[in-house]
Amino acid sequence: MNFSGFFVELKSENMFTQSIWNAYGVQQDFFELKKDIEVEVAIVGGGITGITTAMLLKEQGREVAVFEAREVGKGTSSHSTGNLYSITDELLSPLKSKYDIDTVREVVEARKSAAGLIEQSIVKYKIDCDYKKQPLYLFNTDDKKDIGQEREIARDAGLEILSLPDDFPVEAKEGFSIQGQAQFNPLLYIQGLAAEIEGGNCNIYENTRVRKIEEKEGHYLLHTTSGVVRAKYVVQATHTPKGVELQYHTVLGPYREYGIAAKLDNDNYPEGIFWGYFNGDKYSFRSYTRNGESYLLCVGRPHKVGQAVDNREHIKELTSFAQNHFAIKEIICKWGGQNYKPADLLPYIGRKTSNSKELLATGFSTDGLVYGTLSAIINTDIIVGKENRWEEMFKASRHQPGKAAGKFAKENLDVASQMLKDWLFKGEDAELSSIQPGESKVLVRDNKKVAVHRTTSGELKAFSAVCTHMGCVVNWNNAEKSWDCPCHGTRFDMDGEVLEGPAFEPLPRIKE
Ligand code: FES
Repeated sequence: MNFSGFFVELKSENMFTQSIWNAYGVQQDFFELKKDIEVEVAIVGGGITGITTAMLLKEQGREVAVFEAREVGKGTSSHSTGNLYSITDELLSPLKSKYDIDTVREVVEARKSAAGLIEQSIVKYKIDCDYKKQPLYLFNTDDKKDIGQEREIARDAGLEILSLPDDFPVEAKEGFSIQGQAQFNPLLYIQGLAAEIEGGNCNIYENTRVRKIEEKEGHYLLHTTSGVVRAKYVVQATHTPKGVELQYHTVLGPYREYGIAAKLDNDNYPEGIFWGYFNGDKYSFRSYTRNGESYLLCVGRPHKVGQAVDNREHIKELTSFAQNHFAIKEIICKWGGQNYKPADLLPYIGRKTSNSKELLATGFSTDGLVYGTLSAIINTDIIVGKENRWEEMFKASRHQPGKAAGKFAKENLDVASQMLKDWLFKGEDAELSSIQPGESKVLVRDNKKVAVHRTTSGELKAFSAVCTHMGCVVNWNNAEKSWDCPCHGTRFDMDGEVLEGPAFEPLPRIKE
């Protein structure tokens, strides 16, 4: 990789979304699908979930093909922190309040097992991805967030707990460390795995976007942008199920948060995984070193997708946080990452309906590197007919109204109010000429909502502002230059194409 070229590119309009991992990723160039094919298992999505599933199925002698809309590993997986841990983003006490300590212990065990598979795969395939064991530090700095119960629950769940060290770099009010966690470069890991498994009975296709999945006569037909795939099984490794799957969309809340990578003025790069609550808000930070260059990574300032008034403010706040706590010399890159929070706090993994051969892996919250790997283990066992001790607990088709009730009601009220608000109020009666270079607006033309963006070079790009998933009106994300849907989190790029989320189809272009 031309490293300096990466940062030059980063300053251009479209490159805001590049994480630090992309600076060290390699160019892989898997082929695009060019014809109709038949395969036993079709995997949609080439992130950690899809590639790990392909690895495990190939090891079991199954014939698999992975279809990635863009480039392997460069979607959500490479917008993560690269932290591998046994607890969960929402912490263990909310989980214990909904379930019991045995369930919490099983969640931790399942996550340990998945993190263990990552470590084994790195050793087995000799993947150079800066893997190292690290403690996770959980702490607060004031009374705004109570973490009092977390230490005991984590210990009861079987984790090794220690006090914070004397030289802890932050003035913490209370906190502890969880030993035996890990960090790596997720993109190098996924790319390394993909390079190892490609070939034989495993084919990986890039730039091959699945537009439709249909079930026909006991098989699935995947209509891609360049061929039809007939498969016995389909695994949706797409972060959230594609298409209109209301039983899932109604229990998943789409959130976006931001990351920055910075050089420091000194060498005080913090070693470990840091989860701190500052004035009640959670920030995660860590360091990353490769080829003698070190960076501080900070992640935080979440909001519902498509509902930020000004996305850039979230990144400014994250930058201020970093500047207030570290000697920041220069911000190197900034990016956003998406996650889907499950209403009952557990991810949905397994068959879409009780006997379906279409398998899902979704609702990972911000814990997707480990849960994605766990999904690969469970879904592989389902396909090969092997018993899995966690299949029932994470079963995608489970229905737990009691456990999901509070969040379920909140998320659906939010979607309903977004739809109503969008259709009643959104859209300006402004002239196209009033849109300045770099600006975007949703306008009303002939009673239709139109999403208009003028690029920095002056070109006008106009699309229907109606999300092709279920009809909400998209909002402009001024930080990442995308049209984001506030209902179920589909994001469209400046050319209307789907970046992520449940929609299959791009926003229709308006030419006049
Ligand atoms: Fe569902 Fe847009 S993502 S309506």
